[in-house]
Amino acid sequence: MSARVGIHDLAVATAGHVLELDLLAESAGIDPAKYRVGLGQEQMSVPGPDEDVVTMGAAAAQRIIERHGADGIRTLFFATESGVDQSKSAGVFVHRLLGLPATCRVVELKQACYSATAALQAAADMVARRPDERVLVVASDIARYDLDSAAEATQGAGAVAMLVTADPAIAELESAIGISTADVDDFFRPNDSATAVVDGKLSIGAYLDGMIGAWDDYRAHGGVDVSEIDRFCHHQPFTKMAVKAHRRLADHTGVPLGAELMAASTGYNRRIGNSYTASLYFALAALLDSDDDLAGRRVGMFSYGSGSVSEFFALRVCDDYRTHTRGEETEALLAARTPVDVPRYRALHTAAAELNSRVDVAVEPGVDAPFHFAGIAGRARQYRRA
Ligand code: CAA
Repeated sequence: MSARVGIHDLAVATAGHVLELDLLAESAGIDPAKYRVGLGQEQMSVPGPDEDVVTMGAAAAQRIIERHGADGIRTLFFATESGVDQSKSAGVFVHRLLGLPATCRVVELKQACYSATAALQAAADMVARRPDERVLVVASDIARYDLDSAAEATQGAGAVAMLVTADPAIAELESAIGISTADVDDFFRPNDSATAVVDGKLSIGAYLDGMIGAWDDYRAHGGVDVSEIDRFCHHQPFTKMAVKAHRRLADHTGVPLGAELMAASTGYNRRIGNSYTASLYFALAALLDSDDDLAGRRVGMFSYGSGSVSEFFALRVCDDYRTHTRGEETEALLAARTPVDVPRYRALHTAAAELNSRVDVAVEPGVDAPFHFAGIAGRARQYRRA
């Protein structure tokens, strides 16, 4: 890639409710330290009936459009594992809610937690060919597992929107990329299921194997030595997983990699839980918002999507990135969530699965958010601005 291309802006959104994992642990008779320390998780965002990947994705993307306008946006990539239709891209709903021009192509990408990275790379290649265009990438997911399952504490919800442009203000994408794909049934969601099927232990091993495969391919394709990487963001289904990944990379390369090189990236994911394909970019947002010393630094990014596709790539942070980040805005969003107790969380979880099977149903606005899922009319999903 000859032109400087990368992330010009990055904004997030999450669901309107929050559950303290200490409450979940106590109700299940589990030591809360298992979640806090063992998984590295404190809270999870819980969507209401009027929220889904479209409403969260539109809320994140709206912040980008408010700051930069829509001129030159000719592509919207919507990356998700928890899409709302088997045919129509969730991004088409977002396109209308944001009033984007008709002259903008919209496509949904799916490969578990990996697809936002595919979208980002495709966006960068498009902009490299046509530097006057800008691409809006929206990553949005709701992580739902069965109630009372081992995976329950690793649920969550959130969206990240990124504007990919030439001469970016936040971070430039480097061209070296490492990839590793392997057919493995560690995590998947059959078409008739609202919750994912997961083999937790297999998934952890598959993630770590994918990381090493992607790292070796990164090095074989011009990637820098690990000692030349200043910070790391690893995919965070739960933040302890990123700690495991970091240790594994240190073992594999034989280079000591201190925990301080990745610790700042866990700040948001500890509080929103897993947001599948948005999770890696929440990690990047947390790093950018909490580390003042990133100008000119290289950030290694590891993306893992079960099933599985892994990718390692790197970003170079721009000099005045601090004037473009949105830490206060994100803190306000997290603080504005309504706390729920375990019975209320369980009721919301059950209601979400039931809603999907309805032919006609009206859903009243429940949370204070800019966009709402308003129900289903003749099986077609309805969305409104607040
Ligand atoms: N105090 C402190 N730590 C404790 C503890 C206590 N009282 N009790 C247990 N722990 C620790 C354990 O030692 C363990 O730590 P280590 O892994 O470092 O040894 C940790 O807490 C978890 O304990 P268990 O392994 O016993 O947990 P579990 O089997 O009940 O479930 C899980 C954990 C497998 C991750 C499960 O939550 C799960 O299946 N989650 C969904 C799958 C997942 O997130 N996989 C990650 C890789 S796949 C991926 O990345 C894609 C994606 O987004 C889904």
